[in-house]
Amino acid sequence: MINFAILGFGVVGSGVYELSLNNKETVTKKVGKDVNVSRILVRSDKEHDAKHLFTKDFTDILNDGNIQVAVETMGGLEPAFTYTKSLLEAGIHVVTSNKELVATHGKELQEAATLAGVSYLYEGSVGGGIPIIRPLQNCLAANEITEVFGILNGTTNYILTQMKEHGLSFEKALKSAQELGYAESDPTADIEGFDTQRKISILASLAFGEDIGLENIPTTGISALTLKDLESAEAEGSSIKLVGRAWIENGQPKASVEPVKVPKSSPLSTVSSVNNAIVVRANPLGEVMFYGQGAGKEPTASAVMADVISVAASFT
Ligand code: HSE
Repeated sequence: MINFAILGFGVVGSGVYELSLNNKETVTKKVGKDVNVSRILVRSDKEHDAKHLFTKDFTDILNDGNIQVAVETMGGLEPAFTYTKSLLEAGIHVVTSNKELVATHGKELQEAATLAGVSYLYEGSVGGGIPIIRPLQNCLAANEITEVFGILNGTTNYILTQMKEHGLSFEKALKSAQELGYAESDPTADIEGFDTQRKISILASLAFGEDIGLENIPTTGISALTLKDLESAEAEGSSIKLVGRAWIENGQPKASVEPVKVPKSSPLSTVSSVNNAIVVRANPLGEVMFYGQGAGKEPTASAVMADVISVAASFT
């Protein structure tokens, strides 16, 4: 049996717990052993079927002795960074959906993992349920990647779609995205483009093997857009989308985040609601596009659980 812990029991953490139960048979078949959630780190007590697994004390997980993998779905930099580093140094594999942490301290945490001989995996950090981290690391490994761009934030794409197609106000559309579990706990990160900035930074570092640094990625969100802007773009035959882009210029990796008028002829213009789409330009492959649900409980839990399975299946 393989035991894993979940740190943070919000939308994604509870999604991972539910998925581990609902698809237990599938997971067991893939790993060849039972994979169980044995501890859950929560901020406060609440009524839940999994309440018997709850602890508010991180050291209960760190010192448990029978936990081989930890899923970090707390979000934010602290205490997620300190906990992740301690777990890795203690020889516990860590799987995360925390893009802010991966974008800010991913390199250091990866080094700590390598030193301890464990994995730090983050498929759930970009694109929700869309496979994109592993394709960049493995499937496209023989290619020289020249550009990565796309719609990387489900909340803002959902808001823009609701405004344009259903005439909803910005505020109403945002409230709905929050209720559906798409938005960050502080939705400023979504709306002002910082969530996209973190994601494009992660993708750029995988594509080009170099960190650009969040501070070097000019970022504009969608808060200044009005329904009139969306309608006038529509009249010109375009759709406004929040696009993250990373490319090579004079041998240097660059990235940006901004609302872009995407012509109707581009496949990005048809990406609606909470969906994300990521285009990778690579040599000799050419162009490849990844598409699917980019935020929300089940899609993100699907990506996180895949990393847990991957680690668990590697145990002899
Ligand atoms: N708030 C994020 C989004 C969640 O809307 O895309 C998934 O990373």
